[in-house]
Amino acid sequence: MNNTTVMEDAFSFLEKAYPELKRSPENLNERKLEVQLEIERTGTYEHTFKELQHGARMAWRNSNKCIGRLFWNTLSVVDKRSETTEEEITNSLLEHIRTATNNGRIRPTITVFQPNKVRIWNHQLIRYAGYETADGIVGDPASIEFTKEANKLGWTGDGTPYDVLPIIFQIDNNEPTVISIPPELVLQVDLRHPEYDITPLNARWYAVPIISDMQLEIGGIHYGAAPFNGWYMGTEIGARNLADETRYNLLPHLAEIMNIGTSQNASLWKDRALIELNRAVLYSFQEDNVSIVDHHTAARQFHKFEDNEARAERKVTGNWTWLIPPISPATTHIFHKPYKNKIVSPNYFYQDKPY
Ligand code: ARG
Repeated sequence: MNNTTVMEDAFSFLEKAYPELKRSPENLNERKLEVQLEIERTGTYEHTFKELQHGARMAWRNSNKCIGRLFWNTLSVVDKRSETTEEEITNSLLEHIRTATNNGRIRPTITVFQPNKVRIWNHQLIRYAGYETADGIVGDPASIEFTKEANKLGWTGDGTPYDVLPIIFQIDNNEPTVISIPPELVLQVDLRHPEYDITPLNARWYAVPIISDMQLEIGGIHYGAAPFNGWYMGTEIGARNLADETRYNLLPHLAEIMNIGTSQNASLWKDRALIELNRAVLYSFQEDNVSIVDHHTAARQFHKFEDNEARAERKVTGNWTWLIPPISPATTHIFHKPYKNKIVSPNYFYQDKPY
């Protein structure tokens, strides 16, 4: 990217962010001049902590796929831009897991590393391995490729359906570092159901989804390693991760436990099993005091976010296909209105896989 593009992006970020931060017009102009000189001298510029903090929060606010955006302004932003060593980065990643988990009272958190320094290979810091075996796939089919990479780098799992993968990251273009997460840091919830005995399902899920493969873009600066998390909405686990045919595919097994036949589509056995699986997810997380939100509450919160944004005279952009929950979508207001899927900066973007 050339200097003019960075400068334009930097200016348009500062012009949005500074008024939101109640900075004076003089302050904005001073900062623009400073950034301009820095870009002319070095080709890039560094955000102040306040800019990074607010930029990361704006990026959440602009995340069209996210129904949880009401809480954008509470994101806890951890600045690790000064870190360069394997040991520092390892500690920061583990610290992210510890403080975001917070014994179940999950704190939305992002840890930001220096641009063009670190790449995290994992899709999420905590995720289950997937193995192709002679008797079919064991674990999470979505992790098969990554699990193979981990194996190549010398990691071996136990071969259970819920092996927590190691974290793999790379500094500059050096050999990747592979670290096992101390098990006591990985909070997990064993699923049970208020009425059915679902122990034969052997289903569980981890508490905190920490996306670690997206890049955070603020004012023309691309942070390629900036793992972030919120808490789960129940359907992500109960209607997708554990239910999709291409993931854990637990619905037929649950239907068997519920003693409902699976031969007639019109019996709605899939829908009935799906609802009970989602009840189990919400029930178990709540009983273990692990933060989670059901999709009806999340939709109400999103409605409040839309109201707040209207009051702040900002437009809400959204990706309808992602915002509607995968169960009972038409029971939420989101289903009944259109959203403009326009990409606004700052934001979180997909990036190419490093492996
Ligand atoms: N859908 C992903 C998963 O099931 C997590 C995406 C982020 N979700 C969140 N609630 N912040 O693992």
